[in-house]
Amino acid sequence: MSEILIVDDDRSLLDSFERLLIEEGYTVRTASSGEAAIAAVADRAPDLVIMDVRLPGISGMEAFAKIREADARLPVIIMTAFGTTETAIEATKQGAFDYILKPFDIPEMLELITQALEAGRVMRSRVRMNAVPGSFEADALIGKSEAMQAVYKAIGRVAATDATVLVRGESGTGKELVARALYQHSSRAQKPFLVINCVAIPETLLESELFGYEKGAFTGAAGRRVGKIEQANGGTVFLDEIGDMPLPVQAKILRLLQERSIERLGGYSPVPVDVRIIAATNRNLERAIEAEMFRDDLYYRLKVVTIELPPLRERKGDIPLLCDYFLAMYAHEMKMDNPGISREAVRLFDVYDWPGNVRELGNIIKKALIFSRGYPIRPEAVSQALSSGGKPHAADTVPDGPPDMAAAVRQWVHETLSAGSHPDMFNFMMDHFGGIIIGEALQMTDGNRSRAAKLLGLTRPTLQSKIEKYRLSLETRVKEQDGPPLT
Ligand SMILES: Nc1ncnc2c1ncn2[C@@H]1O[C@H](COP(=O)(O)OP(=O)(O)OP(=O)(O)O)[C@@H](O)[C@H]1O
Ligand SMILES: [Mg+2]
Repeated sequence: MSEILIVDDDRSLLDSFERLLIEEGYTVRTASSGEAAIAAVADRAPDLVIMDVRLPGISGMEAFAKIREADARLPVIIMTAFGTTETAIEATKQGAFDYILKPFDIPEMLELITQALEAGRVMRSRVRMNAVPGSFEADALIGKSEAMQAVYKAIGRVAATDATVLVRGESGTGKELVARALYQHSSRAQKPFLVINCVAIPETLLESELFGYEKGAFTGAAGRRVGKIEQANGGTVFLDEIGDMPLPVQAKILRLLQERSIERLGGYSPVPVDVRIIAATNRNLERAIEAEMFRDDLYYRLKVVTIELPPLRERKGDIPLLCDYFLAMYAHEMKMDNPGISREAVRLFDVYDWPGNVRELGNIIKKALIFSRGYPIRPEAVSQALSSGGKPHAADTVPDGPPDMAAAVRQWVHETLSAGSHPDMFNFMMDHFGGIIIGEALQMTDGNRSRAAKLLGLTRPTLQSKIEKYRLSLETRVKEQDGPPLT
């Protein structure tokens, strides 16, 4: 359970905020001065600090600096009232995770907390290399094959050098794990590590996310904003999916690599920064260069140190080990005993091509485990899981699905939002997806509601009420005979 330290001298805010966070399932400690906050962090590091910058005694900035000194990887969210935003911006420049204006919007605060905790986890949860399965820990690189041994060696060789590293490999081969291992074995391991997913951030926002902007840089830029790269100063930035980075942003990254400085949007002078860049892509960059989608000068700069991750089909010998690993992990996660898997079942994996690589294998094991109902996994369960694809739940694959699906969803969201406002727009859109999910489950089970409920992990009455709720979208769907409205 994540522990959050709230720092504010306003007793009533502390109380209500504490109650809210406890209700959300967090453990909470509070402090009402900078001195108390520093002492609390020294006593036992929380997973996140949320602090006001205006405090009695030593200033919030001073307290923040001390907390930072103690642990640069501890995420800190700054709360600020109107009039102290300059201080808050200064704090983000010194590495605060983000700031939020008081009085804050609760859902926005909760979302920021989720993001900050995840950012902290990624830094502090160590990726183990060449791990022995059996324990249930997540974040391990499993595999004894020659290809994986070469990967471990490469990580060991380059981690400490501060060199820019390019991690290449198909989707689901473990690029993100490798990036984190590189960071954790580097001399910057005690400093921040920030992940920027170039695909997840809309193209129009990526540049300002990365480099920040000055007041008035564009319409809507009401104040200064510090970019992620500046925020990570002294640490490491992981540019995930760099092959999808727009050309103008590529130019700025090249400049960062060459000159060790950045320019904020609308800024006049370069800001020196000291960050190590780790980049990853599943794209064929050589082809992207031919198509004039990727700068060749950036490519040559990045590729000096490349770590290539093998696709799973080229290291099938590792499959039994990976099976053991995922079985132990998911059984633990689902609070069931590890039922094991029959040898015949594992053999089925040998004749499969694994387009989704290790991620797909993990998903298949998870699914087969659900089908197994506590008995050792039989070949039938594996064929069933294989034939329905390595995607365990719609909910798992929406954010993490193939890029064309994410693009289709984004396009739909964009068009719907552009068409105008709706008093309950968010829920209207979510209902649309709920309708698609339930419609698909019903179609797969020929309308059998008990089986559909089972597939979806819902009770029958819950499914029933959802069918009623989504009737509208189901009807729209039936009308559109040619398939789901998304594509
Ligand atoms: N060698 C491995 N051992 C154990 N788990 C692994 C390994 N490689 C990948 N995984 C698991 O597979 C999933 C996908 O890994 P990761 O996100 O690092 O892949 P990726 O290469 O970044 O994929 P994508 O290109 O789709 O982003 C994660 O859950 C990760 O823990
Ligand atoms: Mg990835």
